[in-house]
Amino acid sequence: SSMDPALLLLFLWTLTGTVSLQSSGSCPERLLAEERRRTCPRSCRSDQDCGNKRQCLCDGQCGLSCVVPGRTCPWPLPLSEDSEARLLSPTHSFSALLEVRCKPGFTLPGGLDVAVRRCQGDRQWSGDEPICTAHVVPPSVSCRAGVVGTTENFCQDDQSWQHPHPICRTVFCQPPREVEQGYVVAVQKTEYQVGFDIHYLCRKNYLLDGPQKITCLSNGSWSASPPHCRARCVIPAERSRVVIGGVKRWPFDVTDAMVPHGENVTFYCKHPQKQCSFTATQSCFDGNLRPPACYLEPTWLQYKLFPHRLVSEIEACDPGDAEWYPDSRSTDAA
Ligand SMILES: *[C@@H]1O[C@H](CO)[C@@H](O)[C@H](O)[C@H]1NC(C)=O
Ligand SMILES: *[C@@H]1O[C@H](CO)[C@@H](O)[C@H](O)[C@H]1NC(C)=O
Repeated sequence: SSMDPALLLLFLWTLTGTVSLQSSGSCPERLLAEERRRTCPRSCRSDQDCGNKRQCLCDGQCGLSCVVPGRTCPWPLPLSEDSEARLLSPTHSFSALLEVRCKPGFTLPGGLDVAVRRCQGDRQWSGDEPICTAHVVPPSVSCRAGVVGTTENFCQDDQSWQHPHPICRTVFCQPPREVEQGYVVAVQKTEYQVGFDIHYLCRKNYLLDGPQKITCLSNGSWSASPPHCRARCVIPAERSRVVIGGVKRWPFDVTDAMVPHGENVTFYCKHPQKQCSFTATQSCFDGNLRPPACYLEPTWLQYKLFPHRLVSEIEACDPGDAEWYPDSRSTDAA
């Protein structure tokens, strides 16, 4: 988009180098795109048109003009906080070049950090006074309430900001979804202030699955989704022993014959050909616990008359006997 400073400089040197050839008639119309002139000196075709002291020279966009080559432009320039000026020519007289460079962290419009100005016939440096602006100014954001928008911003090449500036505003969080079989240890509100914590508890026999506490964040979101309260599961066996928490027991010996959410229950299944048992494990998930497909509930008669022959009581199959079933842990065909 904008011309590379080095290229621009080369361009300028080429043009000023043609000054001595000006009297032959040709003169570039413009030197710098930004250059603006209110008045131009008298135009000319050769030195004869200009009288004694003046010469017919190319004066930027004014073209061939009668100028006094010894006239100087202001130098040194007043010190600036955001830029440094340097002469590129031995003098500061007509057609001399001046470089204005922005200090680190500052840029000129268009993202350049160098501008070149030429000493015109009217004793003024060409172009507008270069204005260096801060390259990146991180907006400092400190809000008691909440920040709406991004807290980090970037100055783009066209001197605009990438994001709109953030604003401080009182922010509220909306009530989070309700937790079934649970309750919040706080007064229910229609909106919650930033920093407000909601603590959750589950009703008796329900297990908390998720955070025990959520916090209203400064952007109006909650720190996490509310938890779930998960139900216990009925052990789906009555006349067989099962393994719960590493202990083999009768289901009626377990409190309420139930296991908490997430608990594993291992069942005993009979080998299809041999008089031996293998195990299959199922997990309780939120009130759902199905026996594995291989599990067969003994009849009341079997249980009463031949308790020692129940599958859960006979000897375990040898590891070799178990080869026919792929994975006893997942034998429950959904
Ligand atoms: C709010 O901030 C949190 C943490 O910075 C973030 O994870 C969440 O996506 C933000 N929410 C919105 C709506 O911007
Ligand atoms: C249940 O079994 C799964 C899979 O082996 C295991 O990741 C989990 O920790 C077990 N749960 C309990 C309560 O032992």
